[in-house]
Amino acid sequence: MTQTLTSPKVKVDRKWQQFIGGKFEDGGSERELFNPATGKVLCKVQEGTKASAEKAIIAARKAFDQGPWPKMSAFERSQFLFKIADAIDAHQDELAELETLNGGKPLRESKYDMADAANCFRYYAGLITKPSGQAIDVPAPSVTTVVREPIGVCGQIIPWNYPLLMAAWKLAPALAAGNTCVLKPSEYTPLTAIRLAEILKELELPEGVVNVVLGAGPAVGAPIAESNLVDKIAFTGSVKTGKAIAQMALGNLKKVTLELGGKSPMVVFSDFDIDTAVDYALFAIYCNAGQVCSAGSRMVVEENIYDKFIAKMIERSKKIVVGPGFDQETEMGPLVSEAQKKRVLEYIEIGKKEGAKLEVGGDVPQGAKYENGYYINPTIFSNVKPDMRIVQEEIFGPVVVIQKFRTEEEAIALANGTNFGLAGAVFSNDLTRAHRVVRAIKSGITWVNGYHSTYNECPWGGYKQSGWGRELGTFGLEGYTEVKQININLDPQPVSWFA
Ligand code: NAI
Ligand code: MG
Repeated sequence: MTQTLTSPKVKVDRKWQQFIGGKFEDGGSERELFNPATGKVLCKVQEGTKASAEKAIIAARKAFDQGPWPKMSAFERSQFLFKIADAIDAHQDELAELETLNGGKPLRESKYDMADAANCFRYYAGLITKPSGQAIDVPAPSVTTVVREPIGVCGQIIPWNYPLLMAAWKLAPALAAGNTCVLKPSEYTPLTAIRLAEILKELELPEGVVNVVLGAGPAVGAPIAESNLVDKIAFTGSVKTGKAIAQMALGNLKKVTLELGGKSPMVVFSDFDIDTAVDYALFAIYCNAGQVCSAGSRMVVEENIYDKFIAKMIERSKKIVVGPGFDQETEMGPLVSEAQKKRVLEYIEIGKKEGAKLEVGGDVPQGAKYENGYYINPTIFSNVKPDMRIVQEEIFGPVVVIQKFRTEEEAIALANGTNFGLAGAVFSNDLTRAHRVVRAIKSGITWVNGYHSTYNECPWGGYKQSGWGRELGTFGLEGYTEVKQININLDPQPVSWFA
């Protein structure tokens, strides 16, 4: 048998620290990180407290109020962002290995994410130098322009499913616009964000422009969301935490953007090639082991192909090779943490108790290579009812529910039948119908005859409880700017409003 398990070259047995005001520092306590593939301790990272968050906020405040970054020309900031992108590319192998060691995803997915992160910096590097603002037609001698300005200090709290990519989505537009940042990575997956901070220091980003604080949400995330010195908070994660953050932000009415996941439907009509649809369905739900905010976690399938669709899904799901991210044969890795594995297994139990039919999976794979890792087999539930918790709630694991529809109206009602509205897809060869249905789906990210393909150029975010605002694209940049009108009177005469 050929050896397909490779060893990472990156060294993790080193110091991992917070980055505050341009310096790396300890935080007062240490947290053990685990390798999701083995359940073994990977390394230790420094963690901070409320005091670290406050120190980082003050550093970012100073960098914004007195530092060079917001005053630089867009062109200069653009050049810097291009350098960040090139540096991420230059460190791609190392960063991808860290991502797989820390988060568990297959190495090929990590490499893809690293390239995506670099390109996000490139996109905003380009966008910020393009025409913006407005000149308004007002009578002489007035001149009126509308300009965009940075908001100020941006708090950025990100999750563990795409650690470096989420950092890029937050930092790139914020930095392009001239803001300064306090980034808090997930306590489960901080390694690539710390490594990025080291890269930023090597590139001599002015101190305080990017700060990285480490620790759990309540300890270091909440003080950022609450601080009156922070002007904007951007968050990606659960609905529950998103709502808490919106409350915390009320004190100084800071600007808030939230990306809170979903329960996204993939509607399949029977005129579409069933094997292709099943192939997309697997990609939609099992990519990154289902830990994707836009995962296609509900298949909404036309009645006349429902049984056949399930049979084909079962057959293909069983063939998916689950394993460690460093095994070249692996198609689906472990979940990120023991906690997430437990959470997903609990949902599987809930599904069974609710009376859904477990078609395949629902268990953990057996064998030496899986021992102590956070693995769960691809799982399918059928015979579900719209009000079941496994149909309504985000599971964030390799678990899909299959729903049946008879009419187009029913398909739309099922597709829209949750509190979420992040993503959605329609599969049909009848493009008139596909377009009609996709327009009726209340979601921010949609596909016809496809899934997951997305672009830095396009707005990312959701309807309903999937969040507030949009990231990426020109919309993402707007989320990091204030708009100002400037009225200049070139020939001031007494206004004589009062005699
Ligand atoms: P979470 O929403 O609690 O964590 C996301 C980030 O928020 C982390 O950096 C965390 O430290 C921080 N955080 C947590 N509590 C906080 C607080 N009180 N104040 C400030 N920051 C806080 O997500 P969790 O608990 O890791 O996962 C639970 C579920 O959330 C998942 O099963 C999934 O359904 C959903 N989720 C959605 C994501 C998405 O991409 N939209 C990403 C991660 C989780
Ligand atoms: Mg949580």
